[in-house]
Amino acid sequence: MTKTIAIVGGTGAQGGGVANVMFKTPGWKLRIITRNADSDKAKELASKGAEVVSANADDEESLVKAFEGAHAIFAVTNFWEHLFTGKSQDESGVIEVEQALKLARAAAKTSTLEHYIWSTLPSAKKTTNGKVTCAHIDYKAEVDDKIRSEMPELAKKTTFLYFGYYATNMVYLPLLKPMEVPGSYGKWVQIVSTAPTTAIPVTGDMTVNPGIWVRQILANPDKSKGKYTTVATETVTLGDMLNIWSEVTGRQGIYIQCSRKDYENLWGVAGDEITDQWDWAQIVSDWTAHVDYVSKEELGIKPEETPGLKATLESLKSLM
Ligand SMILES: NC(=O)c1ccc[n+]([C@@H]2O[C@H](COP(=O)([O-])OP(=O)(O)OC[C@H]3O[C@@H](n4cnc5c(N)ncnc54)[C@H](OP(=O)(O)O)[C@@H]3O)[C@@H](O)[C@H]2O)c1
Repeated sequence: MTKTIAIVGGTGAQGGGVANVMFKTPGWKLRIITRNADSDKAKELASKGAEVVSANADDEESLVKAFEGAHAIFAVTNFWEHLFTGKSQDESGVIEVEQALKLARAAAKTSTLEHYIWSTLPSAKKTTNGKVTCAHIDYKAEVDDKIRSEMPELAKKTTFLYFGYYATNMVYLPLLKPMEVPGSYGKWVQIVSTAPTTAIPVTGDMTVNPGIWVRQILANPDKSKGKYTTVATETVTLGDMLNIWSEVTGRQGIYIQCSRKDYENLWGVAGDEITDQWDWAQIVSDWTAHVDYVSKEELGIKPEETPGLKATLESLKSLM
């Protein structure tokens, strides 16, 4: 029997990576959930054979309809869209929780559902005993608790999927990518509001790795339901990330550590939010310790099919 996976965010980075792999996974049909079925990305996915369905995470009823008949659901929310459209860090988190709970409640109402995969992050607040808070991760983690306390039947079918730091942050995101310094004879700087020794798990290739994790989560329900796991190929310090970037691009990258205030002056509220993340990462780089965790090895995820940071940057070299 062919099963249906509904992919929220299928037009974006995480869901797009899920779709790329699930298209090639026997036994699965894809249903892409989007606010705009007429976007180029939605049309491209439809041309590859996906069903494209309009729904909005702000509208629970639209999600209930969109999820009808689905056997698996991948769900993601986008904190940054709220922050970049003028909301404060906390306001963005509150909206993110509201959307995530609408997604979860709609999933709980889907009678055919066998597996829910919720894209989340570890709680900075809990893992540091309240020393550090960070909105774009803490609010997601709050949703995990609410799924367990308010929707226990859904919780039994849920895999809580952490995503590491995207390799593409160093390619596309002005806040996080190295910049060329005019008049420096070809030197590039990365200005970061933490020490180069700060380490974080990284996703590797976002075009395939999310899908490989989802495929293996679905193939191993007894190991993955009710558990946490992370789309991450390795844990890397920020200093080493820049060294790898330099090796790949052949450019001299120079790491410049700045203060929270400097970074906020540069990037506004997003700078403050990223600095919160680095403060947390200085204390916690092991994301497996505080939760019921299943490793990539236990899920049968093989290093040879999951490109890591260096291979990913090499594949994107022409864009850097
Ligand atoms: N950058 C990193 O290193 C990193 C690491 C870990 C986690 N994250 C988290 O990743 C999340 C963003 O995911 P992403 O990178 O895949 O984002 P993305 O590439 O910007 O895509 C966002 C996706 O979400 C969909 N979407 C947004 N609002 C929606 C709504 N109201 N209803 C239905 N669909 C909606 C969009 O679909 P349409 O536009 O087609 O409707 C789009 O497909 C953030 O919450 C962030 O905290 C990022």
